[in-house]
This record gives sequence, structure tokens and C-alpha cells, in this order.
Amino acid sequence: MLLLVSFQKLALAQDTYTVQTKSIQVKVPSTLWGLFFEDINRAADGGVYAEMVENRSFDFPKPMAAWETWPSSHLRDGIFMIINQSAENKADPKYMAINLKPADTVGLMNNGFDEGMAFKKGLVYNLTLRYRQVITGLHVRIFLFSANNHVIGKTDLALNKDSKAWTNQETTITPTDSTGKGKLLVIFEGAGKLDLDRVSLFPTDTWKQRKGGLRADLVQKLYDVHPGFLRFPGGCIVEGNQIVHRYQWKHTIGPLENREMVQSIWADDVDQRPTPDYMESFGLGFYEYFQLCEDIGASPLPVINCGMSCQFDAAEVVPINELEPYIGDALDLIEFANGDTTTTWGKKRAELGHPAPFNMKMLGVGNENWGPQYAEHLKLFTDRIKAKYPDMKLVNATGYSRNIPVFTYMDSVLRARHADIIDEHFYDTPKWFMDNANRYDSYDRSGPKIFVGEYAAQSDRIGSMNNKNNLLTALSEACFMTGIERNAAVVSMASYAPLFAHVSGWQWTPNLIWFNNEKSYNTPNYYVQQLFSVNKGTDVVPLLKDGKAVIGQDSTWASAVVDQNTHELIIKLVNMSSHASKKAFRLDVSVSGTATVASLTGDLGDVNSIGSPEAIKPQTTSFPANGKNLEFTAKAYSLNVIKIKLK
Ligand code: AHR
Repeated sequence: MLLLVSFQKLALAQDTYTVQTKSIQVKVPSTLWGLFFEDINRAADGGVYAEMVENRSFDFPKPMAAWETWPSSHLRDGIFMIINQSAENKADPKYMAINLKPADTVGLMNNGFDEGMAFKKGLVYNLTLRYRQVITGLHVRIFLFSANNHVIGKTDLALNKDSKAWTNQETTITPTDSTGKGKLLVIFEGAGKLDLDRVSLFPTDTWKQRKGGLRADLVQKLYDVHPGFLRFPGGCIVEGNQIVHRYQWKHTIGPLENREMVQSIWADDVDQRPTPDYMESFGLGFYEYFQLCEDIGASPLPVINCGMSCQFDAAEVVPINELEPYIGDALDLIEFANGDTTTTWGKKRAELGHPAPFNMKMLGVGNENWGPQYAEHLKLFTDRIKAKYPDMKLVNATGYSRNIPVFTYMDSVLRARHADIIDEHFYDTPKWFMDNANRYDSYDRSGPKIFVGEYAAQSDRIGSMNNKNNLLTALSEACFMTGIERNAAVVSMASYAPLFAHVSGWQWTPNLIWFNNEKSYNTPNYYVQQLFSVNKGTDVVPLLKDGKAVIGQDSTWASAVVDQNTHELIIKLVNMSSHASKKAFRLDVSVSGTATVASLTGDLGDVNSIGSPEAIKPQTTSFPANGKNLEFTAKAYSLNVIKIKLK
């Protein structure tokens, strides 16, 4: 009985906060909440890049990966032969030579990425063959199969007889049924010789219906965050496990056959999740990344290799006298993004279809690099870039974690150099995120800006199946994010990491958005990012308890902004207590109307999944908001975004 009474008292206890809507502290940077895209967990190939044929150009190290010959494998003896032309064509090293004599019927079956191809009944799919005729006489027939091997689509393709040079020929095919685990079979009939360089299959319901484009469901999720920036393409893939595998943006633009494929660092970097066939086709390349930024309204933040490979891996360092091509790539990238169409790289951008500049204002030099070699390389990059593009803001790394010698060394070097933006990464426990909502309170306001470039609360170790995107991790990130918002004077950008993961092709946990070949779902962590970003406001204002920032008193974390455009006060309040808690706000202005509240709440272990994609998501309620004293009850374990009209 006694226990019950004290619990009720607790439950009814009221915490009072003052909100000073007229005391503008700092403008909210337009870039504050953004996204970080890396091709990890099949984020690009097999993910947002909507190509359905894995190893479409037979260029994988094992050229028959994802393919089977049909009806049997002995057909590799003489009928299907992989030709390796890498000595003369590094970018497109292999193709399939098909030689049928006498007349016969054979085929190539592709199993798609991971679980197979997802076909939608009635949707048109574009199939493209890149081939050349050697001896004419072959006919092509295309079949789509369901998971239980029923034919659910077919079409014939009359090859162009005159195509002695490489040619791309397209056709369409429309499934009569839906399946989540389908296959594609390309049949060759007759007698003749054909060289086949690519078999490609895309749905037509891509984002903005672009041919060869991106999965609309996944891009929509990015768009719905209203991200201030998009950091791309990584992450460790920028560095590569060896310097030869580093990301080279010039290899990722123009015709697909010019985009030199690389084995992803994620193919073998995670012991418990080896994915040897994880190749980067660069179908999603730098032009497409810039286009994506434009589509979703995000400021582009590309990251380039600084002449060092991953320091957890081969840790190769390019000697200073060989660094010129790396610096040249950075300068050319800026010209590609922003140069007018009379410049070499601006002209290339225009030829690809975008004469207007992409308005790139920031560039990352290096990913998780550190140490004196990085400091030395960075200085050379910085001097050259700033000499030509003084306004370009450079993002500099501090390694892979905080407050360790690697970090403190880089941090002091970068501060002494008055770096533009310092990138910090945090993968830690929910408790750490809650305890560190005050991290930036003491940062020098006149020093470099901070980019919290990668962060995610971990419920278990990275890469563990038990490392869940649950409500606990999401709310703890929200606590930390109130600290970022309060400190927008010094933190100019932040992004969760990683962004995407295929439910059967992942290497890393946790991740913001999960998908299979058919569907996708948002995690509670996604909703936290979205709630902060779409409610970022324009100006930070003080929200205080007893004159202090709210960083855990009464299990509550909170921050506030006003939006000068909509004339609203927006309060973000996290209640980490196991019971509902009454909150009172004392405003410096009188309001009248209704406050709306978007709340993310539930049990701490709650997660979403492909089967239950919306088990947990924000719910909207309202309460009367009249006068200067407002009251609101925050549910147990909840993030609440409260919006109040000021006039
Ligand atoms: O986000 C996953 C990885 O974490 C990134 O590639 C790397 O920068 C960090 O170590």
C-alpha cells in the first residue's frame, strides 16, 4: 500500500520548465539534421539502386556469381565462355561469349540479390541487353519465374542483326503475378555467336520514374526526413581495405561500362558476416548522388579519399610525392559539381544532363582517418583547395571514436589550424548518449564547427543480431540530440549511421532503415531523426529547469526552438522515466489555442520489422494551450515534440 502511494505521488509530480521564446540564442543551421549514406549492408547495389540483376556484367571476381547456365552447368564447356579482356579494358573486364552450333536452346538464369527478385503483378520492367553479334542467328526469349518456379512473365527479343559493335537493346516485360523471390531466365535459341556484356532489369516505378534509377520506397523515406545535407559515399568505402579499392568518383560517372567495379570493403571486413560477392557496381555514382541530394533538398557533402586506405585494414599511406592525383580528384570534383559549362568537368556534368551547378558547399577529406600522416595529407589538400575555392568548407576527421589519443591528437591539430568543420563519431551505449547530452555545452563557440558525422546507440555489440533498433536506443539518441540542438552554435550538422540495411544482406547493426527486395520499414531511430528534422525551427531558445539546461533532471531531457516562418514554439522533451510525468511550461508570452504533440512511445524493447513495419511510430495528440502556463503529461518512455502557435 505504501509503495502504491509513493508511486502515485511520483506519477503526479509536476516538473516546471521556463521557456524564453524571446531570448533567441542562435539560428538553427539549415544543415543541422542530415543523412549519411554509405554502400554498406547492400545499401546501394541490391538496395536503393533498383537494378535487379546481380553481377549484371559478369565482372565479379567469380564471373558466374548469381548466375546459372540452363538447363545444366556443363554448358560452360564451349557454349558459355567468360572472356577476360582486363588487359585492354580495366573498367569492363569481362563478358560472356555464347556460341551455339548446331541450333539449340540454352539459357542464363539470374537469381537476383540475396533472397531473389521481387516482381509486382502488372508492373512494367525494363530489360536491357548489351551485346554484339559475332555470327548472327540467335534469338532471345526472356522469362520471369516466381518463387515456386512458375513462369510469371515472358517476352521475345529480336536482336539487331547489324550490331557488330557493342549495342544496348531494350525491351519490357510485365509479370502476371507478384513474387518476393523470383528469377530471370534469358534463353538463347538457334545457331550463332553472340558476345553478351550486360543483362539488366529495372522496375519502371523507380523514384521519379527515372530509367535505371533508385527504389522509390527507399528514397521517399529519405525525402520524408527533410534532410539538411547528405554525406556520401561513405564511410569506410571511401578509404577501401587497400588503396586500390578506394572510392574514385571519376570511375562512377558516365556510361555504365566505364564504371570500374570494386570489391566492397564490407565483403570481408566483418568476420561473422562475410559477403564475398559484395561488389560496388557504381550504378549509383557521383552524378546520381548529386541528383539525389537535389531531389531530397539536401546540401551535398561528398567525402574523398585523402591518400590513405582504411587504418583498421591495410592502412596504406600514399607518399607525398604521389599525392597529386588525389588532390587533383578533389579539385576536379568541385569543378564537376559547381563549375560552369565551359570548364572541363562542368562540361561533363552538363553532358550528363545537368548544366546547372549542384551548389556543393562542403567537402569531406578523409573518412575515419587519424595520426600525423593524415594531418600532413590534410594540410596539402586544404592549402590547394582553399587556394582555388576559398569558400569551400572542409570536413576533417578525428578518427573513429571520442576522447582517445587518436581523437585528442587530431582535435588539437585541427583546432590549431582553425579547421572549418571537425567530424566526430559515436557508437556507444544508450546510457552514454543520455549522459552526454551536455557534451557540447563546453565547446569553444569561436572554434571550428562540429559535425556529429556518425552516431548510433548500441543495445549490444556492433554487428550482433541482438543489436536492435529499439525504443531505448532511439530515445537515448533523442536525449543526445536535445544537447545538439541546444548547442547549435557549435554543432552545425549531425547524422545517424548507418542509414540502410538489407534484412538478409547486412554486415552492421543497428541501422536507420531496413528493407528486403520488396518492402522497407522505418525504425524508432528513424522517427526520432525525422521528428527532430521536420521540426528543426529557425532559432534556438532557452528551455530551463531552475535556471539550468534540462539534461536528465527528473529523467527528462528537453530543448526548444521557435520557427519564425510558422510562428511556433517547438519543444522537444524526452521522458526516460517508467511512469507518466506531468510537465508545466512557463512561457514569456501568452498563447491561445491548441498545442499539438507528436509522441514516440512504447516499451523500451519495441522494434519494427518487415512483418510489423509500424508496430511503433509517432502518434499525434493535442492539449489546450492558453495563457502563459501550460501543462502536459509526458507518457512513460516517450519523445514528445510539442508545437504551440505563438501568434
Ligand atoms: O557506419 C559504419 C562505419 O562506421 C563507417 O563506414 C565508418 O566510418 C565507421 O567506422
